[in-house]
Amino acid sequence: MRILLFTGKGGVGKTTTAAATAVRAAEAGNRVMICSTDPAHSLADAFACPIGSSATPIPLDGGPGPGPDAAVSGTLHAQQLDARERLEAAWGEVRQYLVALLDWAGAEGIEAEELAVIPGLDEVFGLADIKELAESGDYDLVVVDCAPTAETLRLLSLPDVLGWYMDRVFPAQRALTRAVRPLLRRVVDIPVASDGVFDAVRRFYARLDGVRELLTDGAVTSARLVVNPEQLVVAEARRTFTYLSLFGYHVDAVIVNRLLPDAITDPWFDAWKAVQLEQLTAIRIGFEPVPLLYADLAPEELIGPTRLAAFAASLYRDGDCTARLADLEPFRVEPRGAEVILSMLLPFTTGAEVDLVRRGDELFLGLGAYRRSIVLPDALARREVAGAHLHGDRLEVAFREPVGA
Ligand SMILES: Nc1ncnc2c1ncn2[C@@H]1O[C@H](COP(=O)(O)OP(=O)(O)O)[C@@H](O)[C@H]1O
Ligand SMILES: [Mg+2]
Repeated sequence: MRILLFTGKGGVGKTTTAAATAVRAAEAGNRVMICSTDPAHSLADAFACPIGSSATPIPLDGGPGPGPDAAVSGTLHAQQLDARERLEAAWGEVRQYLVALLDWAGAEGIEAEELAVIPGLDEVFGLADIKELAESGDYDLVVVDCAPTAETLRLLSLPDVLGWYMDRVFPAQRALTRAVRPLLRRVVDIPVASDGVFDAVRRFYARLDGVRELLTDGAVTSARLVVNPEQLVVAEARRTFTYLSLFGYHVDAVIVNRLLPDAITDPWFDAWKAVQLEQLTAIRIGFEPVPLLYADLAPEELIGPTRLAAFAASLYRDGDCTARLADLEPFRVEPRGAEVILSMLLPFTTGAEVDLVRRGDELFLGLGAYRRSIVLPDALARREVAGAHLHGDRLEVAFREPVGA
C-alpha cells in the first residue's frame, strides 16, 4: 500500500501529474484511488467526467473501463473529498458547546459561532478519509491531489497542532467535569461539556489516530513537489520542502513541469528559455539529492486518460511511479560518542531562522509561520540539550546525560 501526495503552487500541474500518475499506476495493474483535497473540482476536468464525493470508476485508455473484460487489470477510482458534511455530523455537538462557552465568555451570537469554528477542522476529516481509503484494503495506491501549498501545509501540520491542543484542553476538562460537574453547574453558570461532547472528541480522536503515523511513514507515503522552472515557483517549493520536512513528511521527487521543448525555436520564447535554464540549474543544485522528474509543455491540454498516460510515460520513463524514489529521513536519532543526536532535515534554512525551545519532555521547533512540538522519546527526554546547530541540510540537536547523573 502506497500513498502519494502531490503538492505545489497553484497552476503548476499538481492535478495533471497526480492524475497521470494514477492512470499509469492503474494501467500497470494496481488498484488505484485518486482523491482531491482541493475544493476546486479539477479532477473532474482532468478526467473529463463528473466525479462525486463517493468512489467514481474512471474508464482507462478510452476502453470499456475496469472490469473482468477490460484490457487492463488495474482499476482507477476517483473521489472528491468533501469533508464539511461529515464534520458537522461528527463535530456539531462540540461546536455547540464551544459556542455556549464563548458566549458565556462574552462573545455574542454570530461572533461566538465564528470563533467556535476551529480553522482547518473540516480538512482534518479529509486526512482521516485518506487514512480510511488507505486502510480499506481496496486499493494498492492512494493518490492525493492536494490543494495549493499554503492550505496543504496547514492541513499536513494539523494532526500535530490539533493533537497538541486537544491533549491539553480536553483531558483536563474531563477530569474536572467528571468530579465536579454537577456541583459546578449549580454554583456558576459556566457551560460544562456534556458526555456527548467528550464522546464526540473521542470519536474525532479515533478517526485522527494514526493519520500522522501513516503519512509520515516514508515506506507508505511520499510527497512529490510539482514545480515550473520559474523563480517564484521554485522559491515557494523550497519553503514547502523545508516545512514538509519539519513535519516529518518524506519528499521523494521534484517534478519539473512545463519545460519549453527544444522544438520551440521562436525567438519570442528566448527570454522564457533563458529563465527556465537558470531555474533548472537552481533546482538541480537546490533539491539535490532528491530525484528530479521532467515534463515538457505538451502541445495540447492534458485531458483524459489517454493523454495523461502518455504524459506519465514521458515523466517516469521506464520507472515505477508507485515506488519510493528517495529516502531522505526527515528525522533520525543516533548515538554519537556520549551524546545522542536528534537530526532533522531542514533544507534551505539558516540557523538564525530556527527557533528551538525545550520544555519538559517536549521540543518546540519554530520556523516561519509554523511550529512543531516534538514529544521526545524516553531515551532523549531524560537527557539535557547540549547544543544545536545546522549541519548542511540538517538541524542537529545534541542531548547529553544530565550533569551530575
Ligand atoms: N506539461 C503540461 N503541458 C501542457 N499543459 C499542461 C501541462 N501541465 C499542466 N497543464 C495544463 O495546465 C492547466 C493547469 O494544470 P493543473 O494540473 O490543473 O494545475 P494545478 O492542479 O497545479 O492547479 C491544466 O489545464 C493542464 O491541462
Ligand atoms: Mg489542481
